[in-house]
Formats: sequence, structure tokens, C-alpha cells
Amino acid sequence: MEKIVSLSKRRGFVFQSSEVYGGLNGCWDYGPLGVELLRNIKDQWWQTMTYRDDIEGLDASILMHPRVWEASGHVENFTDPMVDCKECKARFRADQLEDAMCGNPAYKGRKAIKCQSEGKFTEARQFNLMFKTFIGPVTDESAVVYLRPETAQGIYVNFLNVQASSRQKLPFGIAQVGKAFRNEINTKNFLFRTREFEQMEMQFFVKPGTDVEWFEYWKDERIKWFVALGLKKGKLRFQQHEAGKLAHYAKDAFDIEYEFPFGWGEIEGIHNRTDYDLSRHEQFSGKSLKYFDDETKERFIPYIIETSAGASRSFMAYLVDAYAEEEAPTADGKTELRTVLKFHPRIAPTKAAVFPLVNRDGMPETARKIEAMLRPHLRVFYDDSGAVGRRYRRQDEVGTPYCITVDSQSLQDQTVTVRDRDSMMQERVVIDNLTRYLRDKLSA
Ligand code: GAP
Repeated sequence: MEKIVSLSKRRGFVFQSSEVYGGLNGCWDYGPLGVELLRNIKDQWWQTMTYRDDIEGLDASILMHPRVWEASGHVENFTDPMVDCKECKARFRADQLEDAMCGNPAYKGRKAIKCQSEGKFTEARQFNLMFKTFIGPVTDESAVVYLRPETAQGIYVNFLNVQASSRQKLPFGIAQVGKAFRNEINTKNFLFRTREFEQMEMQFFVKPGTDVEWFEYWKDERIKWFVALGLKKGKLRFQQHEAGKLAHYAKDAFDIEYEFPFGWGEIEGIHNRTDYDLSRHEQFSGKSLKYFDDETKERFIPYIIETSAGASRSFMAYLVDAYAEEEAPTADGKTELRTVLKFHPRIAPTKAAVFPLVNRDGMPETARKIEAMLRPHLRVFYDDSGAVGRRYRRQDEVGTPYCITVDSQSLQDQTVTVRDRDSMMQERVVIDNLTRYLRDKLSA
């Protein structure tokens, strides 16, 4: 993890938020390459989920009516048990003491669970994870609103708006990507548990009685998505929530977990939320949220199967999974260690780099022309500094799948070499065919 965090900063994937002020715990900024990777992951999710005829998109506001969070159960139930150490004042989640380290520098390397057994902790008290703020100029209880802790509720309260405007019939889904905020007691493991993060959520509305079948369908679809975009199958698994540990809204829940260097961690939750959310919004708003079935003439509240992926956690899984160190041949016939991010080309931040072999003999001019030709279609990078081998290494380290080099032969026969990041093999391609060649590779 240390190597990945350090590469992330050095190459512009992720920076600490407000770093010049010492950082803000649980918040991170995505740099030039990080923002591309994150956008590509979100775009791929959006395409997979909404470029089908039974799912519509939505972008609901982050601030919502405060009654939403009473109805959803978050005001009452969205809490974690918290304990304070009476000695060093560090604060912990009472249910995660096995993983936590003592906060006292005098006891370096000691587990918090030991401090607990020695009676150093206060009694556990419940702490609500929602961030509160005020709407309008008056800062009293009547003006309290919350930063949403999940994007799902924006979908539920718009269920009938979307259904009526898009003329969808059950079963159908609504998808949304957006920020969520949780005042986590302990943030940890880089992007894994943060206070501000992004979710990619889809709520699939189904007829009660068909929910178990759709739950299985979405479990299968979602794990396939991660594999199709490159995550190693062996690093993924399902983990079912134990009956006693289900969220307040769920009848059944499976996490898709990824094996990070620090252990298995949830990257997406698939939940059977039954009719809990719509029934509660109906009850709290006093407005009917029932669906009318034209064929059977029945009116009922649909069940909801939710797929809830973290964009930031997926980002981290793709980054960790892509990271490799391996032997690579050098120009003088030796080998050296290369660091390479083997991103699936579709999520790679930069798709192709263009190099003139040397900065003379018309090569830079031709390389610039190629860059200009590709730029409207793909995110490309031009580099003319240092030996070409070093330029390859720099692109390997940020996961650029193709490097195009203009050499002396290019000026004679209008071809270039295209080097594949993973196999390191090169092939000659006619310059005029480059756009189509790369597009075919990327859509494969
Ligand atoms: N709407 C259901 C819901 O929010 P969740 O299991 O609490 O369910 C879904 O969260 C996903 O959101 C998780 O699988 C994870 O990827 C992401 N997530 C949750 N809390 C997070 C945090 N503090 N930091 C980063 N990602 C988080």
C-alpha cells in the first residue's frame, strides 16, 4: 500500500486534501490522472447500467428535505458505537477494536483491544454518522439539513416522477452517481474509509415475489462488471451479511469484496431492501408511492433490489489490482525492474503516448501531427524528453496502454511503432490507420 500511495501522489492520482494546511482527515483530492481514472470508472458504470432499456438515469441534489432522513431511518439508526480512551483521548469504533491501534505514542504498535481489556475506555455511546448543516441564515434546529449519507434516497423520492416521465413499467431501475458523506469515527486505509466519497447506485424496482430472482440476477451482473474491467477473479468474493447484522432496511445483503493488501474489504453492496423505503416515504410524506400495474389493475409498493458500489473504493481496487513490478528488457540487452499499472485500456487515464524517437530530422513535426490527429478521439500525451526507454517506463508507471514512436522509417513509409504496455511487443502501423487501430483495441 505504501508504494501505491506514494506513486499516487508522485504521478498525480491522489493528493491529501488541503495538504498545505496539514491535510483534512478522511478527505482526498484526485489529481490530473486520478480524475481521469475515476471518470472512466464512473463512465463505464454509467454505460453498463443505463445503456439498456430498463434503467433510467437521475442526478438528485445532495441536500434533501430533513424528513427524508427520518423516513429512511438514518436519523434513528445510522449510528456507530463510539468509545473514547480516558488516557490518550483517542476515539474508536467500539465494534472495530480488533483492527485499531492504540492512539498513545508511548504504546507504539499496541492494539486498541488491549487498552480496552485494561479498562481504559469509556462506555460505548451511539454516534450518528450524518453531517448536519443549516439551510438559510438561521442556525436553529428548524433549519437543520444533512449531507446525504447515500445517494439512494434521492432515487426513492423520485420513483414516481421517473416512472411517469419515462413511461417505464416494472421491473425497471434508476441509476445515479454522486457524492455521499459520512462522519466516520475512524477513517482508514487510504481511500477505503473516507468522510466524503462517491457512490454509483442503482435501485431496481420489481414486483414483490420476484425479488429473490432479481437479487440473484444483479449479484451476478455486478461481479461480472468488475471482472470485465480487469479485476482478477481470484481477488473478488461475495460475503453474505449475517441475519443479525443486516442494515435496518435489508432482507438480504451480499457484499462484493476485494482482497486489498490490508485484507478483504467491501467494494459494493447488493441489498434486497423490500418495500421498506417506499413504504416509509409514503408514510412520512402522506403521498402515495404505489405503482399501478396496467395489466393486473393492481396498485402496490414495489420491492427494491439495490446495487451500491463505491466509486472511490472501486478506484482503489482497480489501482491496487493493476499495480505490478516486473523485469523488463533494456536497450543494451540487460533487464531492469519496471513498475507498471496494468489498467484495462478502457479505464486507463491516458490511452496513448506519442514520442519522436529523436528531436530532429522532422520526427517531432510528424509526432505532433499524430498527436493532433488523435486528440479529438482519445486522451493522448506527447513526450520528447529523455531516452525512449525511459519514456516507456514513465508511461508504464501510469498505465498508458499504447506508446507510439515516430522513427526514421516513419518519414519514409508513413508508419510508426505501436508498443503494447503489457506484452511490450511493438508492431508497425500506417499513420492514417492509427485512429481506427487504437479505437478497435479500446473497444475490444
Ligand atoms: N445505499 C446503500 C449503501 O449506502 P453501504 O454498504 O453503506 O450501502 C455502499 O455503502 C458502498 O459505498 C460501499 O460498498 C462502499 O463501496 C461505499 N462506501 C460506504 N462508506 C464509505 C466510506 N466511508 N468511504 C468510502 N466508500 C464508502
